[in-house]
Amino acid sequence: MSGVLYQIYPRSFADSNGDGNGDIQGIIDHLDHLEWLGIDGIWLSPVTVSPNADWGYDVADFCAIQPDLGTMEEFDLLIDCARQRDIRVLLDLVPNHTSDQHPWFLDSRSSLAAQQRDWYVWADARADGAVPNNWVSSFGGPAWTLDPATGQYYLHNHLVEQPDLNWWNEDVRKAFDDILEFWIARGVAGFRIDVCNIIIKDAHLRDNPPATEEDDFEAQLFGQRSVYNGNRPEVHQVIQRWRRLAESHDESRVLIGETPVKIDVLADYYGDGADELHLAFNFPFISSTFDAAMRTIVEETETLLPPGAWPAWTGSNHDMSRFATRWANDDPFKARAAIMMLLSLRGTPVLYQGDEIGLGDTEVAHEDMRDPLGVLYWPAYAGRDAMRTPMQWRDTEGGGFCAPGVSPWLPFGDVKACNVEDQHKDPGSMLVLTRDLISLRRHTPDLRTGQYASVGAPQGIWAWRRGEDVLVALNLGDHDAAFEGFSGQILIGTDRRRDAESFSGSVPIRAWEGLVASLRTKGERCKTLRP
Ligand code: NOJ
Repeated sequence: MSGVLYQIYPRSFADSNGDGNGDIQGIIDHLDHLEWLGIDGIWLSPVTVSPNADWGYDVADFCAIQPDLGTMEEFDLLIDCARQRDIRVLLDLVPNHTSDQHPWFLDSRSSLAAQQRDWYVWADARADGAVPNNWVSSFGGPAWTLDPATGQYYLHNHLVEQPDLNWWNEDVRKAFDDILEFWIARGVAGFRIDVCNIIIKDAHLRDNPPATEEDDFEAQLFGQRSVYNGNRPEVHQVIQRWRRLAESHDESRVLIGETPVKIDVLADYYGDGADELHLAFNFPFISSTFDAAMRTIVEETETLLPPGAWPAWTGSNHDMSRFATRWANDDPFKARAAIMMLLSLRGTPVLYQGDEIGLGDTEVAHEDMRDPLGVLYWPAYAGRDAMRTPMQWRDTEGGGFCAPGVSPWLPFGDVKACNVEDQHKDPGSMLVLTRDLISLRRHTPDLRTGQYASVGAPQGIWAWRRGEDVLVALNLGDHDAAFEGFSGQILIGTDRRRDAESFSGSVPIRAWEGLVASLRTKGERCKTLRP
């Protein structure tokens, strides 16, 4: 858990067979890159069978591989090849809903008396003929769709094609136990659990209360507070059940929750620190601006998580604008400071493919959009394609993602300006900085597992200690400054010319510069002049 995770969006990672879609063999072909980078585990966005209404997040078979991504033999090979490089493989588990093409739902909707009718959330219209309650889908619009064949509505917290499962039903719980066991038996190291905070809904399907002015952006957007369609107390029993299952094997498996909630609620998903999620994605952090607000979020997280709990830090994923664009405004200096932060906090950094080369968002034209949300809401919202464009391996036609002449499923960004091959050759590149920070972390116990403690610093500078001997300082401002009170030696600077520079009592730190330093010199611990 103290290692570094890396999210792969398989369809956009590497195409091995010339169909323009990334695939499992493409991942196998690039494991050397991940090993070189020092990655300990990869999380694959869904590779299971899906009609792709939501690109894999609408699952039609939880225990089979999507044919255009590969075969089960290739998946097994991926596990083996990754293991040989000490890389563990985690899968995306989507328990909140299935595809409307899943056999469970086909049976469920076939009649009121169907064997699996109760596996999904069905409800009658209200007496006045209106939808069963006021819940809104997180993808917009009502969360209920009428199924004319049986005259009832089914719940979908996302697309109409993603009916929500009924987690009050013990058979659903057992079916998921079997799914987890199936993949654990194949050697997966754990699961990233999609929207795990909303799987259980209010048993009485009560209306959500209206949003107030104090509520967050999302509540304002939907006009209601998500009180009854998510974060119900009973969800913790299900997560505890999965934790017991994950730990019932010779080697413990990691559970990482997608938990888009405030930090006090996030803390609850760690249970007592050892009985629920191992890691929970911190959305206030991901959504923060890259300034003093972020320090507050980190401090709050450190304070609120139960003892023994381990935070997770992410800047980008397949749903959120990439950090090189969102936090760093496509400024490479800021992106370097951001990757230093992610890799130097206490907790598990989860990089998204392309973060290591400072890849930013790529604007995708309306006619090329593949994300259903972009297609639905453009031009008000351009969807999530900008952060799903193909990985940029080299400056050639096809970008090293696919063969020349093949048309990729989404367009490329600027492969000339940003690609793995060129950055490999450049000792001052973001890629080499990322690799060196990961290596430093691996070999420096304080940086890997030491406690986090904020340190007083001039305005604009965010500084913290890790354990006894490591100091991290980031200048998140546009002005050069000096950081007083410590002596030691820079281990890695975002400006690599400063690596190994010694400082005594004061260290200058330029605008948007970052430093990881040791407070020991020549094998001895230096005195802190001003704690
Ligand atoms: C969260 C996933 O990350 C996102 O891509 C997906 O659309 C929704 N959950 C629904 O599964």
